[in-house]
Amino acid sequence: MSAWIFGYGSLIWRPDFPFAERRTAAIRGWSRRFWQGSTDHRGVPGDPGRVVTLIRENGAECWGRAYRIESGNGDEIFDRLAYREKGGYDRITLDLHFSGTQAEPVPGFVYFANPENPNWLGPAPLPDIARQVRRSHGPSGANIDYVLQLAAALRGMEVEDEHVFALADLVKGGGTP
Ligand code: SIN
Repeated sequence: MSAWIFGYGSLIWRPDFPFAERRTAAIRGWSRRFWQGSTDHRGVPGDPGRVVTLIRENGAECWGRAYRIESGNGDEIFDRLAYREKGGYDRITLDLHFSGTQAEPVPGFVYFANPENPNWLGPAPLPDIARQVRRSHGPSGANIDYVLQLAAALRGMEVEDEHVFALADLVKGGGTP
């Protein structure tokens, strides 16, 4: 037996756990947004950075990476991910649609920050999000690196994400002061 874990944020470029297989996959009816505050990775308490979560959106697709893990490793991997994603993320199960196949979707575990969690920041104008990203740092590094690494990983996968790419352009270009 094995299980799938789907990453749509830092889990795309830094899964940090052993996996048997990695595939490009999408979850349908969800969009990626920089609406989650980070006080333990890309910001600090009282001065949070911004990281991605998912919002429901009819007709949308959010592309990311699906990792198949062997059940023998499962407990250790899920403990590690529970610690890493403890800043407001719940583990939920969603259908994963693999790239390049019409096959039936498979269930996968996804880390989702819902609007009730204490670090939720919600929507803001993109230039404001860019300013927050540019000034934020946390134990895992600069917030700007999270945005740029996510954008680079998505481009490497030939995946479009208007929200992420627009934010990456703003933070790179300096945005508005
Ligand atoms: C994910 O990558 O799937 C969850 C959000 C994050 O850790 O950046």
